[in-house]
Amino acid sequence: MRTHYCGELSAALVDRVVTLAGWAHRRRDHGGVIFIDLRDREGLAQVVCDPERAQAFQAAERVRSEFVLRVTGKVRRRPEGSVNPELRSGEVEVLAQELEILNPAVPPPFQLDDENLNENTRLEHRVIDLRREPMQRNLRLRYRVAMAVRSYLDEHGFIDIETPMLTRSTPEGARDYLVPSRVHPGEFFALPQSPQLFKQLLMVAGFDRYYQIVKCFRDEDLRADRQPEFTQIDVETSFLDEREIQELMEGLIREVFRDVLGVELPAPFPRLSYAEAMARYGSDKPDLRIALELTELTELMKSAEFKVFRQAADLPGGRVAALKVSAELTRKEIDDYGSFVANYGAKGLAYIKVNPDGLQSPIVKFLQKETLDQILSRTAAKPGDLIFFGADKAKVVNDALGALRVRLGHDKGLVEQGWRPLWVLDFPMFQWDEEAKRWSAMHHPFTSPKDGHEDLVATDPGRALAKGYDMVLNGWELGGGSVRIHRAEVQAKVFRALGISEEEARAKFGFLLDNLQYGAPPHGGIAFGLDRLVAMMAGADSIRDVIAFPKTQRAQDLLVHAPGPVDEKQLRELGLRLREKPKS
Ligand code: AMO
Ligand code: AMP
Repeated sequence: MRTHYCGELSAALVDRVVTLAGWAHRRRDHGGVIFIDLRDREGLAQVVCDPERAQAFQAAERVRSEFVLRVTGKVRRRPEGSVNPELRSGEVEVLAQELEILNPAVPPPFQLDDENLNENTRLEHRVIDLRREPMQRNLRLRYRVAMAVRSYLDEHGFIDIETPMLTRSTPEGARDYLVPSRVHPGEFFALPQSPQLFKQLLMVAGFDRYYQIVKCFRDEDLRADRQPEFTQIDVETSFLDEREIQELMEGLIREVFRDVLGVELPAPFPRLSYAEAMARYGSDKPDLRIALELTELTELMKSAEFKVFRQAADLPGGRVAALKVSAELTRKEIDDYGSFVANYGAKGLAYIKVNPDGLQSPIVKFLQKETLDQILSRTAAKPGDLIFFGADKAKVVNDALGALRVRLGHDKGLVEQGWRPLWVLDFPMFQWDEEAKRWSAMHHPFTSPKDGHEDLVATDPGRALAKGYDMVLNGWELGGGSVRIHRAEVQAKVFRALGISEEEARAKFGFLLDNLQYGAPPHGGIAFGLDRLVAMMAGADSIRDVIAFPKTQRAQDLLVHAPGPVDEKQLRELGLRLREKPKS
């Protein structure tokens, strides 16, 4: 039906007769002449219809936005002054000889180049939204990333093996999406939160190197970087240690950036222990583009007169830390940051403003001179600087100052350009779940303790470190993985530490424990969030912008209207009765 893509036209084709097909992006009627910008996936071409070529001209008069057209005509240079350097085909235009309306269209719900579209409108009319150039670009980028991933992994001996979507609960820490079984009334499949256990079983089965670009399902609170169904680049290997896995996976991400963006990432990626990341950045996914760092003051404040600081420093697991910023801040900004950190549980945001003529602060009157001198020297504060303080349980201080650090970085233009990947290593095995009053797995329960930490799992779980690692890029957790437990007795010990009884472990993970006993090799792996990776590479604010048909923050698909009610008959077949009638 066509000889060329619209976006492919160039001066090299002048005087050639071409046939194009696509959508009427814009139509301008200049009295005697009608201009149509014809759009296809490669871009735009300007089509000129003049009354001398009557068939084309009369058809062009009926053309409206988004009509589907086929145009044949001669390529010619645009007249001096009307060249459009923004367009690939901007030097030329097509003088239409024949114009065929392949399909008319009702007016679109919005103009494709409208830049102020509401996201819900876009998601409701996703098909039209996907016609827009940024979305076309994002989804193509996504494809190229996936291709680069496959080619790297293939070159390194990985094979793609599919794992079930209808399966049973895998503990990645979110709620499951359940699918009722008709054949076994009252029983349910769970959609996988990840293929974690299957990939481990594939290692026991001897496949050595597995990968999959795979959908995962998690019913959790949604944010810009989370979707209920999302895609992982999921990898598992046998007979490699942590370092070797990291090198291989770092190579993958480096290759993707090189291949798709022409960007050379640093080699090797810097490595930070979890403890160091929390100490310096208050976060286990620090954005290294922002040079601000926390200063530790806990020990110093144990003897301070200011009660708020001293009490926090004396608290078991308490922390006092400072965050110095070299920037002008108004009183109002300081107050706003106070409200900002309150969202993270901070009870206040003490500060000291270092003025040329002395210190300005609501707390200097509570601090001795030596303490103040120590604060100034440890933070290396100069006149013009401002020092914020956090004092509370370490988690509150880290969350609050960690978030403030990023916020200040953006507000004050302190975010450097470029890509700053890193590994965060040596995660704790467990974290204390205050609500449930028990230990929970920091990564997942199949993560191996570090060598020499196996006994701590039972004796002092809070101090046991794991062979777990996260890859972080510009403040986003891109991927996480670990070396796994490959011995049944260690796995049993970890389940015990998590308060999972032997019966429960057997009931839920019997298939894993059994198979670990049939000669499981040492193994480990990682999973990257493909949506996050692509969103970052595309410069998108939300992963929804790199997913063709995403869900809203309220976990709905506005295009097909899912989820939706089902017939009484279907429920009966599944042996289900609703406790509440759906609202709609
Ligand atoms: P984890 O739970 O850390 O590890 O997930 C791996 C990566 O998947 C991405 N991700 C998400 N992306 C979008 N929406 C979500 N709701 C979402 N949840 C996670 C993140 C994250 O880093 N089985 C382990 C991996 C392993 O140990 O090999 C796992 O799933 O980028
Ligand atoms: P107060 O004595 O409670 O009025 O607090 C004096 C200053 O310390 C105020 O600027 C508070 O914002 C700040 N402040 C109070 N509690 C904390 C805390 N836990 N961490 C940091 N600053 C605090």
